[in-house]
Amino acid sequence: MTKSKQVFLNGSYLPVENANISVMDRGFLFGDGIYEVIPVYHGCLFRFDEHLERLENSLKLTRIDNPYSRDEWRDIMLPLIDATKDQYIYFQVTRGAAEKRDHAFPVGVKPTVFMMCNDIAPFNGKEDGVKAISLDDNRWSACNIKAIALLGNILLRQQAVENDCAEAILVREGYITEGSASNVFAVIDGILITPPKSNFILAGITRDVILELAAANNIPYAEDIISLDALKTASEIWFASSTREILPVVELDGRPVANGRVGQFWHTMNDLLQTYKTTYAAGGK
Ligand code: PDD
Repeated sequence: MTKSKQVFLNGSYLPVENANISVMDRGFLFGDGIYEVIPVYHGCLFRFDEHLERLENSLKLTRIDNPYSRDEWRDIMLPLIDATKDQYIYFQVTRGAAEKRDHAFPVGVKPTVFMMCNDIAPFNGKEDGVKAISLDDNRWSACNIKAIALLGNILLRQQAVENDCAEAILVREGYITEGSASNVFAVIDGILITPPKSNFILAGITRDVILELAAANNIPYAEDIISLDALKTASEIWFASSTREILPVVELDGRPVANGRVGQFWHTMNDLLQTYKTTYAAGGK
């Protein structure tokens, strides 16, 4: 018999089928909570401090109490990890379960904490590139919060999937913001460009790593606005996220990106990222 998956819920580890929350939980009723996703390579939590910093920021902006210190968070994560595989930790904190449904914050309620660890499924065909579609970014203007309320994002992703695309490129007033669950990079005139951090994008940890690797390896880069028109002239387009790493785009809105083949910048950056992941994990952080 296969052993059932263990998850963490409100202070206990238990089989996933026994992990239950109240229907009055505000995460369930309102999507009132925040989350994080941390990749785990060779048992090592990749950029743990950066992810925790973003978690702390999301909690501050939503005014949800942080129930644990960084060390406590790490101690909770470790027993869920299988170091023989590439995995990711998913965890979320909601405002908790109140007695009645009321939009305003309840008083004296403890946050609900849920955590699980899943395998990172390799993205089939990554080396061949994927198709993308540009869509109107109709989400709210607090996208810097990693909120569990992802209805806007999932409707956009679904629209991409129904158009045979791996991801959507979101456009606000003519300018690129990000993907439905990723950040966007483009190579234009030989410069690697990504939109600057703002309240219209989630500041991706993978995005920061890519910029650091570009700086350290003399790859010309800029954090700058990108119009959809400019994107259509790009020689390369990528998506970046913790679970898909760097995903090259070879077709945008039904037209090939440059010659329709994965470009040299992607190969270089992907190699740099793979080396960095291994070195980071060997550092035992
Ligand atoms: N999402 N922008 C959005 C809207 C995202 O949802 C994500 C990641 C990113 C990239 O962030 P990072 O590099 O830190 O993963 C940008 C995760 C993977 C998810 O929701 O599952």
